Amino acid sequence: MAPTLEEQQKLTDECTELPLSLPKEKGWRTLHLYQFQGFWCQSAEIQSIMSFQKHFQANDTDIVVASIPKSGTTWLKALAFAVSNRHRFVPNSKSHPLLNSNPHDLVPFLEYKLYANNQLPDLTNISEPRLFGTHIPFASLGNSIQNSDAKIVYICRNPLDTFVSSWHFLNKVKPESGSPISMEEAFDMYCKGIVGFGPFWDHMLGYWKESLLRPNKVLFLKYEDMKEDGAFQLKKLAKFLGFPFTLEEERGGVVENIAKLCCFENMKKLEVNKIGSSIGNFENKNLFRKAEVGDWVNYLSPKMVERLSKVIEERLGGSGLGFEVFP
Ligand code: A3P
Repeated sequence: MAPTLEEQQKLTDECTELPLSLPKEKGWRTLHLYQFQGFWCQSAEIQSIMSFQKHFQANDTDIVVASIPKSGTTWLKALAFAVSNRHRFVPNSKSHPLLNSNPHDLVPFLEYKLYANNQLPDLTNISEPRLFGTHIPFASLGNSIQNSDAKIVYICRNPLDTFVSSWHFLNKVKPESGSPISMEEAFDMYCKGIVGFGPFWDHMLGYWKESLLRPNKVLFLKYEDMKEDGAFQLKKLAKFLGFPFTLEEERGGVVENIAKLCCFENMKKLEVNKIGSSIGNFENKNLFRKAEVGDWVNYLSPKMVERLSKVIEERLGGSGLGFEVFP
């Protein structure tokens, strides 16, 4: 049932007042970060997350693509869309939606798009399976997603590369008036866990543990594995989502066609990904940078590598979630 205007106003008032009582830190861009439900985010995000938590009703057939920013979200959204819609949209067709729409428009963010700016989306007419994206940590996804049969696919990336990618991105999308954040300053905050939706270790561990407990509910993928053996990971993804490739499809090259359609080189050169803004006012062109594994070697000093490796070991060591720091 749609909320009344009064209910909406009450939520808006709560959201406006809440940040005042939360721990606050200087953000990477101009806006502050607040510690909300154990993770760091901006005040506008708190409002949309609270609205999403209150109103979103998951369907058992829903697919949620989850990640911490700059881990390969755009890529995974494209793959999940192409895999689950391949009977409607043939992957090598010249009119495939991914050739004309950015993946973030086809798989919208719950917090940045659907529930942003005080909107209450009508999700009833979306064709199944409905695909959504989110950066919200597992613990804050709410009962509806957690307890339904909705599937969650998580993409995780080596924190060293994620940091470098985040730093580049946030410096590109910062408002003209803002001064750039130095790599050293951003790095210090990252190591302390102060980054959007972080600490990164809590974000990863939340989904990682759930994927071990409920492997049919959460699929945990790694960016590096997808780069190394895309076809294998794609088959894993399709099977998990309930749309396994048939032998005939495999023989017919469908797996390769999807990998090709969604690969970095193809996506980066598409006109639709060079123009427009699909996530708030972030320009789409900034979503595609280098897509290299181990690019951190070009930016981080040995001291930085030592410090972040220590954080990774302390926070993630023993979890079974290993990263090869040295490529
Ligand atoms: P780099 O900054 O290292 O190049 P997100 O989509 O979560 O914002 O992550 C962005 C990172 O994924 C960027 O990494 C970007 O270049 C890379 N990326 C974007 N599209 C990709 C694709 N189709 N395949 C592989 N990597 C991709």
